[in-house]
Amino acid sequence: MTAPSPALACRLEAARSVVRDAARMAMAMRPQPGGPQGELKAAQDWLTETDGAVEAFIAGRMKALFPDDGFEGEEGGVTRTGSLRWVVDPIDGTSNYARGRSRWCVSLGLLDGDEPIAGVIEAPALQEVYTSLRGHGAFLNGKPIQASRVAEPSRAMIEMGWSGRVPKPVFMEKIDAIMELGAMPRSGGCGALALADVASGRLDGYIEIVINLWDVAGALPLLAEAGARVSPFLRDGGLTGGAVIMAANPHIAQTLSDAVRIPLE
Ligand code: IPD
Repeated sequence: MTAPSPALACRLEAARSVVRDAARMAMAMRPQPGGPQGELKAAQDWLTETDGAVEAFIAGRMKALFPDDGFEGEEGGVTRTGSLRWVVDPIDGTSNYARGRSRWCVSLGLLDGDEPIAGVIEAPALQEVYTSLRGHGAFLNGKPIQASRVAEPSRAMIEMGWSGRVPKPVFMEKIDAIMELGAMPRSGGCGALALADVASGRLDGYIEIVINLWDVAGALPLLAEAGARVSPFLRDGGLTGGAVIMAANPHIAQTLSDAVRIPLE
């Protein structure tokens, strides 16, 4: 394996450090366990004070470090353009965060043009950090990870993400197909961590019918480096709006794709 270019190595290191500080800030601001604290953007779609504060912190640091790079965030949209561009979800899994739960993360991805090339996802309440750089591996807390080898649906665990943007019959049809296969359904409320779970082999597949670039940008290079198969999210509208994603271990991906009728790349 050749060494990464100095420009990319320095960006990954910087991203790791900025996300570490952002995650610390989010932990300090995390609500106590209990009823959700925050505002509703739409039914079941939460916004906390932390989302804005963490995004502003990351945006400011990246602007100072790499003023020519583009920047896009869940809360602020596209604020700078550039051939290299950062895409941040300040708190992914806000519904969990707002109730003082642990399954949420700060996610920062780097794209070169339209190609995802690096990502850092930190889940501070779980004490876990995922890092990836295209051509240089996928890591959880510094140890290499790989998608699972489970091929039989009867042994498989598949997560399906939910949001109010998805019509109920579509959600139910896919869940039904997962259960018809004999796989175990799950739903954990944090798309970025579910995709990271596919990369580490903790899940065999993840499906979400409408998900945005900021939810997946940090995970796409991780999935590619861990050997997972992914549907063509970016080609199918994910660069500019909500689109479907399916990621799965390579041994079950085609079976799952046929069952839920979501084509793979
Ligand atoms: C949401 C979470 C959730 C997924 C939604 C996302 P947010 O992101 O990832 O799991 O199902 O589609 O919008 O709002 O917590 O950043």
